[in-house]
Amino acid sequence: MEIEGAVCVVTGASSGIGAATARLLYGRGARVVLAARRAERLEALAVDLPGALAVTTDVTVAEDLERLVARVVDAYGKLDVLVNNAGQGLHVAIEEIDPADLRAVFELNVVAALVGMQTVLPVMRSQAAGSIVNVSSATSLRIFPGLGGYSATKAALNMISEVARLELAGSGVTVSVVYPSVTATEFHDRLRAGHVAEGARKIPPHPAELVGEAIAFAITTGEAHVLVGDPPRPIIARQGEGGQSFPTRQTPGS
Ligand SMILES: NC(=O)c1ccc[n+]([C@@H]2O[C@H](COP(=O)([O-])OP(=O)(O)OC[C@H]3O[C@@H](n4cnc5c(N)ncnc54)[C@H](OP(=O)(O)O)[C@@H]3O)[C@@H](O)[C@H]2O)c1
Repeated sequence: MEIEGAVCVVTGASSGIGAATARLLYGRGARVVLAARRAERLEALAVDLPGALAVTTDVTVAEDLERLVARVVDAYGKLDVLVNNAGQGLHVAIEEIDPADLRAVFELNVVAALVGMQTVLPVMRSQAAGSIVNVSSATSLRIFPGLGGYSATKAALNMISEVARLELAGSGVTVSVVYPSVTATEFHDRLRAGHVAEGARKIPPHPAELVGEAIAFAITTGEAHVLVGDPPRPIIARQGEGGQSFPTRQTPGS
């Protein structure tokens, strides 16, 4: 998908990765639509990006997503790209996770992203073209103590994305997953619960713009899995991909 002239909806555009991605796509000639709950922040960003459309949206509310898509189609007559970026962390040990917190982050990181996809798909199918980029996390590619709840949401998002990609093969719509590592945003100050692990504090954070570059790369190439880096790196995210069988472990129990 070519970015220049594309109508790109970015959720979670009021800060961090979403705001940086909206700026980057705008700089490459996209018509950007900014979606998040904090209207004043979206309006401030829209002042910087003349012509950008700011639509106050709670992505966990299906009617908000329907209104968002209707506004976009009204304004531009099409919707080319959805960046499902809104998300929140839950950095608590498994023993201590409050189920209410886990439900809330699943609702935001997984269910809202799914409903976002379902809401844009009729438009993208009618265009026989579209790009959906789901913002996951590199934490879903490894096992990190303290991140079980959060990583589980992103692992679920990865699976939904992969299945959707296969289901949409031949439709003209691509589904990609982008995997940021620790990134300098408000994310770690706005966790649903818990705190940043000591180890993560020591990792030099990526600038949000680097994640924006990886998202732009996913849009233009349609790659399935993109690890954030300089440059962005297409990866094979899972063993067994492409119908291969899983290797059997030689030493059970370890
Ligand atoms: N920063 C990292 O280290 C890191 C690493 C890996 C993955 N990620 C992922 O990157 C994505 C972006 O996070 P970030 O780092 O940019 O954090 P951030 O600065 O905290 O941004 C999160 C965004 O999500 C929006 N959001 C939260 N709940 C929402 C809702 N119900 N409806 C609409 N928007 C909502 C927030 O906007 P409002 O509050 O205005 O609604 C905000 O714009 C997330 O999916 C996160 O899981 C981040």
